Amino acid sequence: MDLFSNSRKLNLKCNIFGIDFKNPVFLASGTFEYGLRYSTVTNKAGAIITKGITARPRAGNPPPRVYETACGLINSVGLENPGVEIFCRDILPKMRRLKTRIFVNVAGFSVNDFVEIVGEIGTRVDGFELNVSCPNVDQGGVAFGRDAEVCHRVVTEVRKITSLPVIVKLTANFCDPLVVGRRCVEAGADGISLINTLHAVAFDIEKKRVLIKGGLSGPAIKPFALYCVHHLKDLGVPIIGVGGIMTGRDVYEFLLAGASAVEIGSATLRDPYAPLRIIKELRKYTG
Ligand SMILES: Cc1cc2nc3c(=O)[nH]c(=O)nc-3n(C[C@H](O)[C@H](O)[C@H](O)COP(=O)(O)O)c2cc1C
Repeated sequence: MDLFSNSRKLNLKCNIFGIDFKNPVFLASGTFEYGLRYSTVTNKAGAIITKGITARPRAGNPPPRVYETACGLINSVGLENPGVEIFCRDILPKMRRLKTRIFVNVAGFSVNDFVEIVGEIGTRVDGFELNVSCPNVDQGGVAFGRDAEVCHRVVTEVRKITSLPVIVKLTANFCDPLVVGRRCVEAGADGISLINTLHAVAFDIEKKRVLIKGGLSGPAIKPFALYCVHHLKDLGVPIIGVGGIMTGRDVYEFLLAGASAVEIGSATLRDPYAPLRIIKELRKYTG
């Protein structure tokens, strides 16, 4: 299967949602902050998706926040972020100097939250990724992403106030993302990204109790993430694949599964320069 037209063989440029991206390798939400610390990497990526931004500041969860498993990572960060007001005042102006596309990951606990955050950010970014899937927060996050009708309402309301691309980041925890995704598209979503982290738990065997409950990411989830992308490939909107991507070959697999672009998450926690290597490796598959 030739996934790349002749022009894509020369470079990795792509047009998704009517926007040009320098390549289909994006930086996933929550693992690269706001892209400012390693700006040389950010500037080479197709896009950066911010850490989840909430309506109010959040301190996040108490430690332990991360736990390494045999083939992945459990995190329980709990959406620590400064809130939309401080994000717009202190962080967004710096992000706008980056040479890449900016998508804000919007994390709401009510339909109004999503509308408020998107409204406050306005047109200062290239688009939004609605995070209806964070499994770390007890207060509503999981229920949102599992409920196709609530997701439909979120997208409907957000659609009314922005003409920028709206991607919905779906969870695959205890639900069929195809059912939820279909309702999001009916409500006007421009694209779907998936998957967010999978529910996971690790135990402290000395104390005989739960050590961490959170979301699993990394290579362990890649085959399931690929399955989910393939499952949603005929939805009629671009699919952005996320989950366990560590190499250019992994990216190519996601493209074969039906993704238009991918997001790199945990790989950057091990090596912040991983996206540069991954982009280079991807070129081998486009020649
Ligand atoms: C430490 C950490 C923080 C994350 N924070 C967010 C977030 O704020 N919003 C979101 O939608 N996803 C968040 N994610 C999920 C990632 O964006 C990604 O969907 C997931 O980790 C799977 O990709 P990976 O296996 O490449 O890491 C986070 C993941 C990690 C590891």
